[in-house]
This record gives sequence, C-alpha cells and structure tokens, in this order.
Amino acid sequence: MNNSAVTAVPAPQEPAVEDFAGDALAGLSAQPKTLPSKYLYDTRGSELFEAICEQPEYYPTRTELSILQDEAASMAEAVGPRALVVEYGSGSGIKTQRLLDALPDPVAYVPIEISHSALNASVAELATQFPEIEMLPLCADFLQPVRLPASERPAERVLIFFPGSTLGNFDTDAAVRLLTTMRTEMGDNGAALIGIDLKKDPAMIEAAYNDAAGVTADFTLNLLDRMNRELDADFDRERFTHRARYNAIAGRIETHIVSDCAQTVRVAGRPIAFTEGEGILVEYSCKYSQSDFAAMAHRAGLVVTRSWTDADRRFALQLVEPLPE
Ligand code: AVI
Repeated sequence: MNNSAVTAVPAPQEPAVEDFAGDALAGLSAQPKTLPSKYLYDTRGSELFEAICEQPEYYPTRTELSILQDEAASMAEAVGPRALVVEYGSGSGIKTQRLLDALPDPVAYVPIEISHSALNASVAELATQFPEIEMLPLCADFLQPVRLPASERPAERVLIFFPGSTLGNFDTDAAVRLLTTMRTEMGDNGAALIGIDLKKDPAMIEAAYNDAAGVTADFTLNLLDRMNRELDADFDRERFTHRARYNAIAGRIETHIVSDCAQTVRVAGRPIAFTEGEGILVEYSCKYSQSDFAAMAHRAGLVVTRSWTDADRRFALQLVEPLPE
C-alpha cells in the first residue's frame, strides 16, 4: 500500500502568531465591515460554542453523533484496518472517540491544531482512553500543508477526519483550497471523512443559529468583549445585536453583529464609525446539497466514494478519496 504522505519529518515551522489587532482594524475599516470568524474562539467563545452544541435548536452536533454511532460498522469497513487518523482541529472529544472506537486497529492519531493548550488537552484525554493508539500531536495551522509524522507501526492509509461542518465556515474557494490540501496530505491511497450540514427547510437552519436561550447571540457578541479586553476597544454590547439569516441563493447562514444606532467606537486607538443598522460580517455557515459538495471535492481532485446520512437527511458524513488519474 502507498503511504508516501507519511514521513518522519515534523511540521517545519511553528505556526505564525495571529495578528488580531491588524486583522480587526483591516476588517473594521473595510466596506462592508468584516471580522475573521476564527477570532470567535477565545476561551469564553469556545465555552459558548460547547453550550451551543447542547441547544435543542442546534441539530448538527447530535445528528452527526448519531450517524457516527449508527453507521460505525459501515464506516469501519469502508476505511479498513490500520489507518493513521489525522484530525484537523484539536479533536472534537466524543466524535473522535466514536471514530477511533469504530475503526479496526488504527495505528496512530494525529490532531493538527494551532493552540498548544487545546492540542495537549485533547491528546491527554484520548491517550488514557486509547492506550494502544500512538498519539502524535502536531502544533500547526491545518490550512497550511504539513508533513505528517510517521507512526511506529506502519499505516495502511491516511484518514483525515474533519467533522462538525467546519468546512462550511469557509467560502467555496477557501473550502476547495482546504480540500486540495487534504488531497495532498492523504497521499494516493488516503481518504478523508468530512461532516457537512445539508440544505433543508430554511426555518430549521435559522432556528439553529438563533436559539431561544440566546447562547448563539452571546457567542457572537463575545467578539466585542474580546476586542474590549485584548484591543483596548470600547464597544458597548448593549448597542449591538446578533443577526443570523439564511441566504437561500448562496446557501449559507450569514452572521452579523449589527449596530443599533449611529455610533463611533475606538479599537486599538482608532475611531471606527457605524451607521444605524450597519453590520459586521463575522461568520458564514455554508449548507450543501450532495451535488454541491461533490462538485467542490472534484475541483480538489477528490471523489465522494461513500456518504452516510441520518433518516431526515439533515447532515452527512462524506468519504472522499483521490480521483482516479
Ligand atoms: C464550528 N461551526 C461549524 C459552527 C457552525 O455551525 O457554523 C459554528 C457556529 N456558529 C454559530 N453556531 C455554531
């Protein structure tokens, strides 16, 4: 079997330090205003995201978990034995456990994560649960190509795991770039298992991003608190509103922080003026049909070989493999 993507060389560089101030000032000076969604996930934001996953309206997490549980045997058969499992992001706890439990004799687990602390925490937990699986954490930005570490036991193939519909937080071109990186990293015999949220009744999608308890609103508006804390900004949270609407033409939730009135805020010493009703775009959450996803995979040199979904076709886990030459 060809596992040429697996080499003994560690990631060549430490990940670049994020420039929150530079990114925030650039985004808030642009027209329309934007902020990169990755900044939603400071400690408080990550806690709030965990709480979102528990909300009754937020169906993606529990639906994906149910697919992982119900289809474990079929996924194990499709992936085969002795996979080197690579996860983009710091391990999603229970989802990773379900996958590692299901697969026949995986040789190693390689989470790729930019935050040292998140990486160490996820590996420490999994190492106690799966003592027979070699843990090979890689501190790197998964958007940049990395060279995967070699496992002690030889791997039959690389399997990249990217659950949670995190792919949907990228626009189409960026998603295709990420799929292309996966294609390179998996090698000619590899595969990727990717969670995607499917197109469905817009009311159900919008409810998932506007939960009645207001947890998603808190998650979004935490970005203002974060700028106040870290960039010496003076946003008054009471003067802004969370807005998440489904754009049916683009097939995505577009989340904005909207200014309730005309106001000027200081961020890192610079004045930023808002008109009444002006929004800051903070996140896309793209929803796909099976054919939308297949077309993106094809642009990245990949083909969907298996797809598992729930009975209501809300969410899907797609197995993609290299397109035959
Ligand atoms: C992480 N990501 C897939 C979530 C989503 O559904 O787009 C983030 C999120 N934002 C608001 N609710 C959940």
